[in-house]
Amino acid sequence: MDNNKPQPRVVELGKIHDPRGNLTVIESAGEALPFDIKRVYFLYDVPAGAERGGHSHRRCHEALIAISGSFDVTLDDGARRRTVTLNRPYQALHIVPGVWRTLDNFSSGAVCLVIASEHYDEGDYIRDYEEFKNTI
Ligand code: TYD
Repeated sequence: MDNNKPQPRVVELGKIHDPRGNLTVIESAGEALPFDIKRVYFLYDVPAGAERGGHSHRRCHEALIAISGSFDVTLDDGARRRTVTLNRPYQALHIVPGVWRTLDNFSSGAVCLVIASEHYDEGDYIRDYEEFKNTI
């Protein structure tokens, strides 16, 4: 990927271990995710073989967490492409604006929690790959 641009990265959220069960915390504009949280949504009941995403954002930061199960996220900054497997509820993939992402290979029962820095705005999406390439 272009080394001059901010890149997506996997962030360790930490885990408060307890015999009663583990606990992971995410705070708005905290150490792990350096943006204000304006929206949370989640993907679930994803059928085998389905693909989600297929877009980039102009301004919105997103953090993806495999709350349950696993899935793959392919990241493309217009120059290079790489795939990250998410399968730990205490790890978040922080995707900066300007990165095309696709999600696939969802395991049965997988839940993808998405934490976003902006309210939903269709105008913030680029859903056409050629248009995305032209913005790079
Ligand atoms: P879409 O962006 O295709 O989902 P994903 O990229 O996660 O696979 O969104 C599916 C539909 O849901 C689309 O019509 C837009 C709508 N939507 C909202 O209304 N609000 C939201 O916050 C999101 C993420 C999507």
